[in-house]
Amino acid sequence: MDSGTNSTAAALAVNAPDEAADESRRGFVKKLTVTTLGLGFVAAVVESFRFLKPNVLYEPSRIFKVGEVSQFPFGSRTVIEGKGVEIIREKDGIHAISLVCTHLGCLLNSIGNDPEIGYACPCHGSNFTLKGEVLGGPAPRDLPWYEMYMDNTGTLVVDASKVNHKRTKLAV
Ligand code: FES
Repeated sequence: MDSGTNSTAAALAVNAPDEAADESRRGFVKKLTVTTLGLGFVAAVVESFRFLKPNVLYEPSRIFKVGEVSQFPFGSRTVIEGKGVEIIREKDGIHAISLVCTHLGCLLNSIGNDPEIGYACPCHGSNFTLKGEVLGGPAPRDLPWYEMYMDNTGTLVVDASKVNHKRTKLAV
């Protein structure tokens, strides 16, 4: 009887470190599982919020202010940097003309010292009059004029999303 009790006690003493190791391993696996699930949940929430925000590339507005009338004296030609537009003020009004070549889209140079040529394309040699009509070269169409108006603060605004087909000047 005593020897049986002793052998059981000895067996328990031998198994105790194994059980402690098992318990420790189980605890580690449990923590690893909880951490992994937690990180997965956080990632899913973050991705869900990112999904709600549209993944689009915003283009700059085609409607932009160019300044007050006083900035454009009679007879002036003013290139609006970064917009591909020139503002021309004449005695009978002001208008905005595209500086983008109708051939392949190069930016035109304004020609100020030649009464015949208003614009020249540096890429393939198209020329346009000051009103934007094609004079020569591969350009297939005249340069468009854009709609222009004055807002309620007295600032001139160009709407390059709308072509001024009638080529009317804004009386200012
Ligand atoms: S892009 Fe102007 S002539 Fe070709």
